[in-house]
Amino acid sequence: MVPRRQRRRRLAARSLEQSERGIPRRRGNGIRSLKGPGTTHGSHHRTSRPSRNECGCGELRILGVSGSLRKESFNTQLLTAVRLLAPAGMEIELFDGIGDLPLYNQDLDTREGSPAPVTRWRDAVREADGLIIVTPEYNSSIPGVVKNAVDWASRPLMNAALHGKCVVTMVATPGRGLGRNALTDLGRVLHDCHAQVISGPWVVLTEAEDKLVDVEDEQGRLVPTLCDPSAARLATVQLNALAAAVDAGAGEHAVAPLRSYFAAGRARNS
Ligand SMILES: Cc1cc2nc3c(=O)[nH]c(=O)nc-3n(C[C@H](O)[C@H](O)[C@H](O)COP(=O)(O)O)c2cc1C
Repeated sequence: MVPRRQRRRRLAARSLEQSERGIPRRRGNGIRSLKGPGTTHGSHHRTSRPSRNECGCGELRILGVSGSLRKESFNTQLLTAVRLLAPAGMEIELFDGIGDLPLYNQDLDTREGSPAPVTRWRDAVREADGLIIVTPEYNSSIPGVVKNAVDWASRPLMNAALHGKCVVTMVATPGRGLGRNALTDLGRVLHDCHAQVISGPWVVLTEAEDKLVDVEDEQGRLVPTLCDPSAARLATVQLNALAAAVDAGAGEHAVAPLRSYFAAGRARNS
């Protein structure tokens, strides 16, 4: 097997290959890192432009989250690669701050406020039209860092950032025949948080090292790219399903009973 770093192909060649396989190409780069204050998080376009949910038009803003903090993470590479498959009108931004979140502690989560990384995370989830979470499988489940991020986004109980959020989940693993338990567990947890998880066909990228290649872009930067046609097709199906679910307001419809229930409770208590 040729080491991954040596397997570099020109972007033009990949683009041609993609169009031959009928895989939609991204318009432009479209990726952003949302880490910390002073970066693009909360940038002007996010606050000045109404979201797709509000007006049914404009760019679909999807927040991409990797469940691995590792520098050379296959899951982060998959997430980066998936952005090249986004359908027209979908912009995938990366949030790389889940490693900054403290371990969930209710004492830190008060009406008076919560730690700054938590506020950034919750705001990013709330402002996004949908999420893509690409996570490793650890010991047949999800890593603690992912569960921790989900826990923070699941509160406050009556107005959680995750409520009604459409979410695509994917797994990358160097192993064979593994990864599905992480997807199942993440789906179950997200469902319990009243998020709307896009159903299968799932993307479980096994033997990930062989299916991700670095490709040079126009600026000569190496960009991880998915070179497994079957995984690319599944990822494309998931992204299109995510766009359709957001456009149909699927998450909001699903969470409507919960919202009415909470509203009735508030009215009773006032
Ligand atoms: C604590 C731990 C538990 C793991 N358990 C699993 C597992 O249950 N299934 C699996 O496919 N891989 C498992 N792995 C291997 C990971 O899939 C592998 O380290 C992978 O590269 C992690 O994802 P990343 O490359 O995005 O960081 C485990 C790794 C660690 C560190």
